[in-house]
Amino acid sequence: MKNAFGVFLLLHLQKVRTDLQYDNCAYWTSSKGFGLPEYTERIVLNDVTIFYHDSSLRSKMPCPDWINTTAGRHEWSIIHEWTDHNRYFITLAFQSAIHQFNITGSLSDQNIYQGSGCCSLYPNGTYRALLTHAFNGKDFLSLDINSNAIVAAVPQAAIYKNRRESDPVSIAETAAYYKKKCLDRLNILKQAPEVLIRKVPEVRIFEQQKAGTITVTCHVTGFYPRVVQVDWLGPDLQPVDEGITDVLPNEDGTYQTKKSVIVPEGDVGEHIYSCVVLHSSLPDNITRVWGLEKRSRIAVWTLLACVCLLVIGFGFWIRCQSDAHH
Ligand SMILES: *[C@@H]1O[C@H](CO)[C@@H](O)[C@H](O)[C@H]1NC(C)=O
Ligand SMILES: *[C@@H]1O[C@H](CO)[C@@H](O)[C@H](O)[C@H]1NC(C)=O
Ligand SMILES: *[C@@H]1O[C@H](CO)[C@@H](O)[C@H](O)[C@H]1NC(C)=O
Ligand SMILES: *[C@@H]1O[C@H](CO)[C@@H](O)[C@H](O)[C@H]1NC(C)=O
Repeated sequence: MKNAFGVFLLLHLQKVRTDLQYDNCAYWTSSKGFGLPEYTERIVLNDVTIFYHDSSLRSKMPCPDWINTTAGRHEWSIIHEWTDHNRYFITLAFQSAIHQFNITGSLSDQNIYQGSGCCSLYPNGTYRALLTHAFNGKDFLSLDINSNAIVAAVPQAAIYKNRRESDPVSIAETAAYYKKKCLDRLNILKQAPEVLIRKVPEVRIFEQQKAGTITVTCHVTGFYPRVVQVDWLGPDLQPVDEGITDVLPNEDGTYQTKKSVIVPEGDVGEHIYSCVVLHSSLPDNITRVWGLEKRSRIAVWTLLACVCLLVIGFGFWIRCQSDAHH
């Protein structure tokens, strides 16, 4: 039974790849009364801002040096072109939302319209995309990428929905981007030097004794990017906190996390437990072993006890020998 559990964990781990999850997101805002430029646009790949533009800037960010392919430069020119297109539609949606929500004249002077369009590539190869808009922090609409339709989250979005859907070519173009082209852009942008940064985790094991059990913690810190997998392997282990692991930021921009398990006292020194860390900075994994030290300490004490017994036994034998001679 114990062995079966160990085998199950190993199989589970082998299925997990250490590749990163990539998120290619665009964020647009149109606002009044927040001191922000009237329109802003940001393209972010895995928390790294690759492109920024707002209505107060005269020129758009030039193509960065690390984009050195024809396809890459072409993509950058599309980003520039779309800025105007996005600004037009986001402003239109904002005006429409203000009008529709303010029919009763109750809207404040501070209003904000936020759009986000993301596509994600998961380590298992799954691709997903999502386009949503919110008005004053509440869902306003989303795009159904498969049917080229706008889904109104509130009745006030109906006017803008009709306006967009009256131009099927434009909406099909947007949907086509999220179906496939967003992934092409992701593959270009993930070459950004800031996205390629990798920092190797440090792994340490701590133990804490509590009423008949030992809690062993695997502490992992100093890694970048954020995605990490930490697993304990060994028989009879019970997870702490339902095995949920939070990844927290360090001050230097790296991350840390920990995973604790409870080892029943009876098992201490009986088995070997390992903490296995998978991260994109590592070709394989980092494995730290716990339990061996206990076992070797027991071995050392056993050896010492045997030596003592031998010495005492030998002493007695000498005594007996010399007694016999007298
Ligand atoms: C593009 O840049 C990368 C990394 O900076 C370099 O390895 C590669 O040779 C460059 N390719 C071309 C076509 O210049
Ligand atoms: C909402 O409507 C009222 C009355 O029509 C108007 O005075 C006010 O400026 C409007 N507010 C916004 C944010 O448009
Ligand atoms: C791939 O991973 C994602 C995110 O973890 C998950 O939602 C999806 O179901 C997975 N797909 C397959 C085919 O395993
Ligand atoms: C960890 O990496 C080693 C090679 O360094 C490999 O033999 C072992 O199977 C890996 N363990 C897991 C759980 O992936």
